[in-house]
Parts: sequence; structure tokens; C-alpha cells
Amino acid sequence: MLASLGARTFTETFGALYRAVDLAAFLAESYSEARLASYLCHPRAAAWVMEAQREAIGYALVGPCDLPHPEVTALCGELKRIYLLKDWRGDGRGSRLLQTALGWLEAQDFSNLWIGVWSENHGARRLYERQGFVKVGEYDFCVGEARDREFILRRDRGRG
Ligand SMILES: CC(C)(COP(=O)(O)OP(=O)(O)OC[C@H]1O[C@@H](n2cnc3c(N)ncnc32)[C@H](O)[C@@H]1OP(=O)(O)O)[C@@H](O)C(=O)NCCC(=O)NCCS
Repeated sequence: MLASLGARTFTETFGALYRAVDLAAFLAESYSEARLASYLCHPRAAAWVMEAQREAIGYALVGPCDLPHPEVTALCGELKRIYLLKDWRGDGRGSRLLQTALGWLEAQDFSNLWIGVWSENHGARRLYERQGFVKVGEYDFCVGEARDREFILRRDRGRG
């Protein structure tokens, strides 16, 4: 369920940016059940699923940080994904899901928290800035031929 919700929400949000063949290859690799299982079997990873009308409408996924930044260590935590289905956005649900996920991360012994966000995703960037995240780096996120500029955000412990 999480794998198919992940592929559906990613496609709804970013699908138009990529060639169909690149998107399909990316989803098969990064949104497979095997990839999710490899995240979730880590003892310091967690996921939440939001439901409405008895359907899964969104999710958040967190765990140890693997963003490409020289100050990332094994003690860093990361919000890896947060997505709602399109019809359920813009009504406060994402903020609640984010606070749940960040609250859980804060309760672990991570030294600080990290997020990677597409530079042009202004809505999500505002949302994270309001939660105390600041930009500390950039990198290229590749989906087939496409190369997207990603911002790396960080929040120090207890700054939420
Ligand atoms: C990001 C997301 C989870 C926020 O959930 P939401 O329920 O829409 O957000 P809320 O109603 O709680 O609003 C909080 C803020 O989210 C941001 N937001 C709202 N709609 C958004 C959208 N369609 N895409 C990205 N961010 C959005 C805005 O900053 C908003 O605050 P604002 O109205 O003051 O600008 C949701 O919009 C979503 O799934 N977006 C697409 C996926 C995505 O961009 N994920 C982040 C990848 S890093």
C-alpha cells in the first residue's frame, strides 16, 4: 500500500517534469516495495499513513539521514518523504502529519534533523521554514535525463 501510494503521489506531484520512460524507471527503483522495506527495517526509521474515508490519503517517512552533505553523520535524522494525494492538500493535514513525524524524530537521539526539497517547491519550502529549517546546502537530484536542483535544509535539535 505504501509503495503504491508513494508512486501515485510522486507522479501526481512531479510526474510532468520527467520523460515517461525516466519516471517509470525511477519509480521502479526508488518506490519499490523492496526499497521501502529497506528503509522501514531500520530500527531508527518510521512511517505514518494518514487515512480519510477509510482510504490511505498520505504518508510520511523518516529515518537516518543519507543526504549528500559533508556535515551529515550517522547521528543525523531525516524527513525523507511527506506526501498527500492531490485532493487532500491545502487543508492543514500535511502540517499535522509533519508535526507528528518531527515530534517522533525529536524524541529519538538524533543530533539534528535534515530535509531535501526541490528548489522550486515553494509551498513545501515555506512549510519547512515555518518549522525552523534553514538551507545549508544544495545538490542535483537526477531522474533519468532530468537534473533537479535540490536544497538541503537542517534544523538543530530543540529548535522546533
Ligand atoms: C507538502 C504537503 C504534504 C503539505 O500538506 P498540506 O495539507 O497541503 O499543507 P497544509 O494545508 O498543512 O499547509 C501548510 C503549507 O503547506 C504548503 N503547501 C500547501 N499546498 C502545497 C502543495 N500543493 N505543494 C507543496 N506545498 C504545499 C504551504 O506552505 C502551506 O502553507 P501556506 O498555505 O501558508 O503557503 C502537501 O501539500 C503535498 O503533499 N504536496 C505535494 C508533495 C510535496 O511537495 N511534498 C514535499 C516533498 S519535499
